[in-house]
Amino acid sequence: MTVATAPIPAAQKALVLITADKDVALLDIPVPVPGAGEVLIKVHAIALNPVDSLYVGSPLAQQAQRVIGTDFAGVVVASGADLTSSSDARTKAGARVAGFLQGACSRNDRPGAFAEYIVIPYDLTWSVPASMPLTSASAVSMCGVTAAQGVFFRQQLPAPFWPTKEWNAGRGWNPSIPADEPVNYLIYGASTSLGLYAAQLVQAAAAFSGRKVRLIGLASANKHALLRQKPYSYDVLLDYRGDWPAGVREAAPRGVDYAFDAISEGDTVRKVHDLLAPTATPGSFVIFRNDRSDMMPKAPGVWGAVGYRVAPVYGAAWEALGVEIGYDSQTIPAKPDARAFATAFYDWLSTAATDGKVKVQPNPVRIMPGGLERVVPDGFVLLGWNQVSARDNNGRTEEYMRPISGEKLVYEIVKE
Ligand SMILES: NC(=O)c1ccc[n+]([C@@H]2O[C@H](COP(=O)([O-])OP(=O)(O)OC[C@H]3O[C@@H](n4cnc5c(N)ncnc54)[C@H](OP(=O)(O)O)[C@@H]3O)[C@@H](O)[C@H]2O)c1
Repeated sequence: MTVATAPIPAAQKALVLITADKDVALLDIPVPVPGAGEVLIKVHAIALNPVDSLYVGSPLAQQAQRVIGTDFAGVVVASGADLTSSSDARTKAGARVAGFLQGACSRNDRPGAFAEYIVIPYDLTWSVPASMPLTSASAVSMCGVTAAQGVFFRQQLPAPFWPTKEWNAGRGWNPSIPADEPVNYLIYGASTSLGLYAAQLVQAAAAFSGRKVRLIGLASANKHALLRQKPYSYDVLLDYRGDWPAGVREAAPRGVDYAFDAISEGDTVRKVHDLLAPTATPGSFVIFRNDRSDMMPKAPGVWGAVGYRVAPVYGAAWEALGVEIGYDSQTIPAKPDARAFATAFYDWLSTAATDGKVKVQPNPVRIMPGGLERVVPDGFVLLGWNQVSARDNNGRTEEYMRPISGEKLVYEIVKE
C-alpha cells in the first residue's frame, strides 16, 4: 500500500446488517487495505437509495453480518502498491472521488459504502470537480450509472462518451421516427433520483446527435417548475395522478418512441407501454424493478417480460461493477461490457474536474442531521422498506422528515 495523507486508523465505524435480526448496528470493524488496482477512501458523504433499506428489511445476505450501503463520495488516502506509478488522478492521495458499492444488496460477501473508510477499484470512481461539494457528488453515482445504462446501454441512444452499436451502424435513433418531428421520450417518475439523471442524459443524447427531443415527464405538479428548467428542460409535464395517459396522447399523438419508467411498480409499466408508438423498437422501453408478476427469469441475470408488444427491459445497476452478483433468486454473471460502459461514463464525468464543465448535475440534496448513527432511524424511515409508490406518512413532524421528492438524502460523515 502506498502513501497516506494522514495516519490511517486500524478500526472504524460502519453500518452493519445483522442478518438474523433484519436490523443494522453501528459497529467497529477493521479499516480495509487496498488491493491491486484499488484505492482506500475516507468517506465524507453517503447518499441513500431505496435498495439500502430494502435489503435490510428483506436480506439477501447469507452472512451473519455485512456492511451496508451504496453511494459515497470522499478522499483517496492510500492506493494499492501496483498503482504507485499510475498517472491517473484518482489514484493519488488527496483525490476527491465518488462511486458506489453493492454492500448487502447481494449474496456475495462484499462490503458496502456506509463506513468511514472503504476500498474500491480506482476506475469505478470518478473525479469530483473542485466546484462540486462531496455531499452533492455522493448523490450521483448509482442512479447516474443506472440511468445511463437505461438510456445508452439498453435503449442505445447516441452517447457522448460511448460508441453504441446503433450509432456505429449510422442510426442512433429509431429510423422510423419522421425526420421532421421531434423524438417523443417519456419519463414516468420524472422527479425520482433516477428520472432526474435520465432527463439530463436524454438531453445529452439529443445535443450530441443534433436531434430534437420532446421530453414528456410525469411528476407531482409542485415539481414541474424545477423540471422545466435546465438541465432537465422538459417540454411537457403532467401529474401522475388522474388520467395522465390522455395527456400524453394529446402531447404525442403518434405515440411515444422511447420510455423510461423510473417507478416500474403496479400498473405503471402497462400504462407506459400502452403509450408506445406502433413503430417503437425492441429495447425502447426500460424499467428498473424486476419483482413483478409479469417479469420472469429467463437465463442467469436476464429477466423477460410476459404479455407486452414491446417488452420492457430490466437491468441492474450492479452489473457496472463487473463481478458476479448473487441477486434475488438469480446469479448475474460478471459482465465486462457493463463494467467498461460504467468506467467510460465515469471517465466522462471526470472530465469536469479538468475542463470545469459539469456533465451531469447532481440531484438536489437534503443534508440530513447527524451521521451514520441516524441513517436507519431517520433515512430508512423516509425510504421505507419496499415500494417507492407506497411510502406512507411516517408520522414524524421534523422538517427533514418530509417525504422525498426530487432530491437525494445525504449524510455528511466528515466535513471537507
Ligand atoms: N434497476 C436498478 O439498478 C435500480 C437502480 C436505482 C434505482 N432503482 C429503483 O428505481 C426506483 C426509483 O429510485 P429512486 O432512488 O430514483 O427513487 P426516489 O428518488 O426515492 O423516488 C422518490 C420520487 O418518487 C416519486 N413517486 C412516488 N410515487 C410515484 C408514482 N406513483 N408515480 C410517479 N412518481 C412517483 C415521487 O414523486 P413526486 O414527489 O413528484 O410525487 C418522488 O419524487 C426504486 O424502486 C429503486 O429501487 C433501480
